[in-house]
Amino acid sequence: MRMYDLIEKKKNGFPLSTDEIQWMINGYTKEQIPDYQMSAMLMAICFQGMNEQETLDLTLAMRDSGEVLDLSAVHGIKVDKHSTGGVGDKTTLVLTPIVAALGVPVAKMSGRGLGHTGGTIDKLECFTGFRTDISRKQFFENVNAIGIAVAGQTASLAPADKKLYALRDVTATVAQMSLIASSIMSKKLASGSDAIVLDVKTGNGAFMQKKEDAVRLAETMVKIGTMAGKKMAALVTDMSQPLGNMVGNSLEVIEAIEALRGNGSKDLMDDVYALGAQMLLLAGCAGNEKEAYDSMQSVVKDKRALDKFAEMVEAQGGDKRQVYDTDLLAKAKLKLPVNAKEDGYISSMDTADIGIACMTLGGGRETKESAIDLSVGIELKKKVGDQVKRGEVLAYLYANDEKKAETARDIVANAYHYGASEVMKPQTIHAVITADGHLGKR
Ligand code: URA
Repeated sequence: MRMYDLIEKKKNGFPLSTDEIQWMINGYTKEQIPDYQMSAMLMAICFQGMNEQETLDLTLAMRDSGEVLDLSAVHGIKVDKHSTGGVGDKTTLVLTPIVAALGVPVAKMSGRGLGHTGGTIDKLECFTGFRTDISRKQFFENVNAIGIAVAGQTASLAPADKKLYALRDVTATVAQMSLIASSIMSKKLASGSDAIVLDVKTGNGAFMQKKEDAVRLAETMVKIGTMAGKKMAALVTDMSQPLGNMVGNSLEVIEAIEALRGNGSKDLMDDVYALGAQMLLLAGCAGNEKEAYDSMQSVVKDKRALDKFAEMVEAQGGDKRQVYDTDLLAKAKLKLPVNAKEDGYISSMDTADIGIACMTLGGGRETKESAIDLSVGIELKKKVGDQVKRGEVLAYLYANDEKKAETARDIVANAYHYGASEVMKPQTIHAVITADGHLGKR
């Protein structure tokens, strides 16, 4: 086989066979196919697309490019959760201790933030001493002992995706449906859980900006997971504004802890409970949605979920006093207001720009190697649908550098748009998709 011929075939709109895809991914992982040929292939895929069979073949080839975790040492039905990424998305921090407190074993591999989106691993490192690089043995022991462990994704899982993702990032080939679906699902299938719940974000802070594209992505991933033998569900949820009110690592940890104390914002808790319900149903820990919601609300109310979170922090070497007293977490030196430029209703927000403002403050990475300032970020006091008066505080910046804060202030101020008439707040859950079809668009 020659890579040249495969590029030509895809360029002309013909599907690649299972053998061809396996050969290509194997050769690329082993560095037998150069980046320039793979870049041409990625661009051809962006223009010509891939059919269902090709997307499945690509996913399985990338899954098999490295280790496939065997979680049989962990007792019970293991349910993983994955978000396609957004701004202010601290759902994992709230959701996983809730379901773990209800008996769902959580053995989760998470990533770091990149670009305008945040990552769970950075957030957990806000706790002094917290280790996300625990050994495989420790990981299994923690899940069996306390029901939850969240570790960093190891390089041995789906290495083909790691290489391809880095190439896509610099060749404008990230936002293609089959490439996104296979990238996410190869890692999830390699992580070894029995069931997977996906949170597919849509809106101007997400990769899939249009709702119909997000639904198609969710359906594709549910189909791939089902064909690979996993129990699957996906939600399409809103990212037309940041989730919750805090953006930035330690600020999001504080917001997550407040949510576990029963003080979460409506949009955050809508997302948490909708995902949690699917996790409990797939794990067989609830008979129906109502039962799932009742039990999740009860472990928040009686603080069992908060205690489970503290247990996980301690078991991974972190200082659990910081869970019960968030004043002990890193704090930025400056708190500066961003004021409204006009009277009116907030009609929309440039969500990705809020993430970029957080990066500008030092809270995000330009490259995977960049160091980040965990204490900086943005507290949103106004979101879409809120009425404001000119000069009123829209948001506070938490910063350690006045110059960076000046730039971030302009970005945040310009990310808000105003209208004269009342605007509906966006709904959080747009669709629920299960292996046997849509449960409904909301
Ligand atoms: N997240 C991933 O892991 N891969 C993509 O392609 C997009 C989002």
